[in-house]
Amino acid sequence: MIDFHSHILPGIDDGARNTDMALEMLKGAYADGIDTVVSTSHIYIDDESDIDKFIERRKRAYTVLLEAMSKDGGEFPKIRLGCEVHLKPYIGNYDSVQKLAIDGTNYILLEMPYSSWSQDHYEAVYNIGVMGLRPIMAHIERFLRYRSEFHHLKALDPIFQVNADAFLHKAMRKELLQMFYDGYVHLLGSDMHNLKERSNHLKEAYGIIEERFGTSFSEHIKKNALLVLDNKSIEKRCKFPKLGFFDKLKL
Ligand SMILES: [Fe+2]
Repeated sequence: MIDFHSHILPGIDDGARNTDMALEMLKGAYADGIDTVVSTSHIYIDDESDIDKFIERRKRAYTVLLEAMSKDGGEFPKIRLGCEVHLKPYIGNYDSVQKLAIDGTNYILLEMPYSSWSQDHYEAVYNIGVMGLRPIMAHIERFLRYRSEFHHLKALDPIFQVNADAFLHKAMRKELLQMFYDGYVHLLGSDMHNLKERSNHLKEAYGIIEERFGTSFSEHIKKNALLVLDNKSIEKRCKFPKLGFFDKLKL
């Protein structure tokens, strides 16, 4: 399994507070069968110079973590460095945003604002695409109140990532099934921040998807994750088997 969204670098954002916590989070992920974790620390850009400053901070945190992992001697997933870029309208004008792509790929994880979406935000996503980057919209299920505006986003052809814990809520599952059918579920991430209230539920989520939605849904997400990390295009037009009335009741 590949975890596409995580906050495992120590002391860099509101995720792992220190190396001990980061090691525990990574060990837990590995024990759950996660072989690769995409590290997506938050970055909030006020000025273009913030990008290089962030990359420097991230490098330091990553070096500390790698040293701790090697000293520990335990088994850990592979780490691919990326970040979660809070989308502000002007960042689409900063060429150095390209440095924030997931390493070895042109894919970049973007977090839409929670307060309001405007034309400027769509333009920023568009401009980021023009740079040659392929936007991944983080935890899109958090923005269902903007559902009527999703088609503006979809027209920009991004990839949509959903958080694993959304599948743990029965009330959300019908919504998520519809999102699959409508083409808004391409990648899954734990968005783990710690070992308690924001821990890793990826294994559980895949279990629920396989059992209640069907294996074609989980295979689709797993295949996409591999393709993205290989910097290849994903298969967006996927025809899922329609669940029957009773299957939906059991969601
Ligand atoms: Fe996150």
